Amino acid sequence: MTNIIITGSKGRMGRTLVACAPHHPELRIAGQVDQGDDLKSIIGHGDVIIDFSSHTATPAIAALCAEHKKSMVIGTTGHSDEETRQITRHSASIPMVFSANFSTGVNTLFWLTRKAAEILGPGFDLEIIDMHHRLKRDAPSGTAKALAEILASVRKQHLEKVVRHGRAGMVGERTAEEIGMHSLRGGDVVGDHTVVFAGIGERVELTHKASSRETLANGALRAAQWVINQKSGLYDMQDVLGLK
Ligand SMILES: NC(=O)c1ccc[n+]([C@@H]2O[C@H](COP(=O)([O-])OP(=O)(O)OC[C@H]3O[C@@H](n4cnc5c(N)ncnc54)[C@H](OP(=O)(O)O)[C@@H]3O)[C@@H](O)[C@H]2O)c1
Repeated sequence: MTNIIITGSKGRMGRTLVACAPHHPELRIAGQVDQGDDLKSIIGHGDVIIDFSSHTATPAIAALCAEHKKSMVIGTTGHSDEETRQITRHSASIPMVFSANFSTGVNTLFWLTRKAAEILGPGFDLEIIDMHHRLKRDAPSGTAKALAEILASVRKQHLEKVVRHGRAGMVGERTAEEIGMHSLRGGDVVGDHTVVFAGIGERVELTHKASSRETLANGALRAAQWVINQKSGLYDMQDVLGLK
């Protein structure tokens, strides 16, 4: 039996994790922590901490997990580079699954995006669109950024040099190098992502649409069961699903 502690347990994802956990008989919820609660006082009861709180909270949670040698599944997104560094440095002492998206479908989209970029080559213009509910705080989504990183890595580009967030006014012609990113927000959309490969005379679009948070929660719970058997290190959902 693996004991899990959920941080951010009262949020949208946290509540879904709490609801889905009983369907994973090998897991037991040993603690729930939200804003104002003290993770330190209960961390000893858990084997894995599943964090869906906030990008600002994750560095301190990761430090506490490293101090107590607890494995982690991290779902928060929107971290600054400094926050990412503060989190990932602890993967030297604990196993950590850090993923912008825990759904099997999106991880399949990651795989397909790499393949399509490799096959279609530089003649196709690359654009990414994400749509999420009106309450989402970060943009583009962590998943959209992960898709952009995949495209940039296939083209051997530095993403920060070629990314173009939205367009307005007399922006001039599109360059062949740029990767366009566009974030739509509204309603209760759980998460839609489309990667557009626009060529001359044809266009390929890869789309994933999540209609429920359960697929994300179940993926994170699967990752929790997987991570306890791993050595210290930084993993993502592609590792959990054996897609690498
Ligand atoms: N990786 C994925 O598959 C995936 C999927 C969906 C969402 N996400 C990400 O996961 C995070 C949570 O998303 P959500 O939609 O569930 O957000 P949410 O509804 O705002 O839930 C976050 C919860 O965490 C709480 N919280 C904030 N700081 C905390 C702290 N220091 N300690 C403990 N709890 C704290 C919040 O409390 P307050 O509201 O009182 O601040 C809230 O209850 C976001 O970063 C989001 O982008 C990732």
